[in-house]
Amino acid sequence: MKSAERRWIAAILLAGAVSIVEAAPDSVKQGEYIFRAAGCVTCHTDDKNKSSLLAGGRALKTVFGVFYTPNITPDPQYGIGRWSDEDFIRALRLGVSPRGEQYYPAFPYTSYTRLTDDDLRALKAYLFSVKPVAQPNKSHDLVWYVRFRPALAVWKKLFFTPGAYQVRTDKPASWNRGAYLAAVAHCAECHTPRGVLGNLQQAKLYSGTRDGPENAVVPNITPDKKTGIGRWSRSDLTYYLATGATPDGDYAGDLMADVIDNGLRYLRKDDVQAIAEYIQSLPAFENPLTKQKNNKKKSEFDY
Ligand code: HEC
Ligand code: HEC
Repeated sequence: MKSAERRWIAAILLAGAVSIVEAAPDSVKQGEYIFRAAGCVTCHTDDKNKSSLLAGGRALKTVFGVFYTPNITPDPQYGIGRWSDEDFIRALRLGVSPRGEQYYPAFPYTSYTRLTDDDLRALKAYLFSVKPVAQPNKSHDLVWYVRFRPALAVWKKLFFTPGAYQVRTDKPASWNRGAYLAAVAHCAECHTPRGVLGNLQQAKLYSGTRDGPENAVVPNITPDKKTGIGRWSRSDLTYYLATGATPDGDYAGDLMADVIDNGLRYLRKDDVQAIAEYIQSLPAFENPLTKQKNNKKKSEFDY
């Protein structure tokens, strides 16, 4: 190889390297934006026990027992510091760990699977920019019949459709952006009734449930006029998602307040509007939810 050629190649490689270095801060910012929209912080930070950001340990009580969220800081021993981009993409897209173990859907990869590769890489770049915390993970405390992880492969065959978001060409760009962000924010995971195996009832998407996380009553957000939010205008819904204030002067309760405070309020206005556009395009579904609940279920909830 002639030296002039070599110099060219070196220059090209260098230019490539420089552009990667320059791209990094942007990608961390993009990742932080997705991180907010996705609400990772709510589950992976044990606020109640004043634990460090993303160090895990938060207890999620479900009908299948208690899940303790893992440490997702970049600590090499206790967190995900040794994970490659491919490891990370596989975990969120397919619900499989770097060692090939199946994850429980209490980790909503059933929704995060829709993230694009580009957003997943950015999300990892952001996670790797937070402070590593050397905090060991706690084992889950589950009922015996769900302890065997390999059985989750069967659950996934039945109820999980992996794959990044597919753009619908018959819909406007803003609608597609809204549908994408609603998947990332996993609205359906809370706002949909579940079957006995913890699966979302696809025919009743977004129609609300009396057995939400932390035993919450989660309202019907389809455009049904009687039991959903069919009377809310586009700006009512956008304003609620950005601030938590309802059209009748109320304020979002605990769980939804977390979704907004930890996430939605950081989104650009056009993005919040896009989510509202998507939600208002859902088929209306009548599903009356009374506040009265079965007391036996008081200490349990579905996640
Ligand atoms: C609803 C609660 C919840 C939310 C929200 C959530 N996670 Fe998790 N996550 C979990 C649980 C529970 C597990 C453990 C699953 C298991 O043990 O099978 C987990 C596991 C993980 C793991 C695997 C860690 C390991 O050591 O194997 C990663 C990585 C992860 N989550 C990243 C994220 C990211 C990134 C987000 C946001 C995009 C997120 N999680 C949002 C509950 C949640
Ligand atoms: C962690 C569970 C959870 C997630 C995720 C979630 N919600 Fe909610 N949402 C709730 C609960 C619980 C309420 C009821 C709050 C209350 O009692 O004030 C609620 C209330 C609402 C309401 C008010 C409805 C009414 O009739 O007052 C709207 C609208 C809404 N959510 C939309 C969304 C959208 C859109 C997303 C995704 C961007 C989303 N939610 C994600 C749990 C959740």
